[in-house]
Amino acid sequence: MVGKSTLMAATFGFITLIFSSQVYGQADVIEKRQKLMKGQSAAAKAIKGAVAEKDYATVEAKAKDLMNSANQIPDLFPKGSNKGKTKAKAEIWEKSAEFKKDAKALNKAASELAAAAKSKDDAAIAVKVKAIGETCSTCHKEFRAQKYGE
Ligand code: HEC
Repeated sequence: MVGKSTLMAATFGFITLIFSSQVYGQADVIEKRQKLMKGQSAAAKAIKGAVAEKDYATVEAKAKDLMNSANQIPDLFPKGSNKGKTKAKAEIWEKSAEFKKDAKALNKAASELAAAAKSKDDAAIAVKVKAIGETCSTCHKEFRAQKYGE
């Protein structure tokens, strides 16, 4: 028979293991999404430069990068991952449908930019570049805090 204290110790050890792996997992996902967001900034910058040079192929390629990263956003915000070095607001999970909608809006604007670049339509490109910027700020205004969480 296993003694009560052995069992308690084992249970406690198990709980500690689960808890620390969750904490580690959170820091991991926070880092991953911040990296993705920085990548989005870099893509947006590259798009602006490529538009100025009428480098349609680069505009299209970077727009497709943004389509892909936009699709990854919701999964990189698992419930409750707003603790630590993150600016994620609790509203992300309180209004998760809206958060997902904002990610979809970026995907849509980026796909429209890719199409405009493919057809070398300068006027449409200008409109869609602006639309992309608006989808970033719409989501940030609602779901990103000014400061890191506790
Ligand atoms: C669906 C919502 C959403 C969209 C769309 C979105 N972001 Fe973000 N972004 C966030 C949230 C939430 C954070 C805070 C993440 C954190 O600190 O964990 C963030 C953080 C960032 C950061 C800071 C990353 C860091 O290192 O702390 C940058 C830069 C950024 N976003 C750029 C962009 C750009 C550029 C776009 C558009 C092309 C964009 N984001 C679109 C929600 C969004």
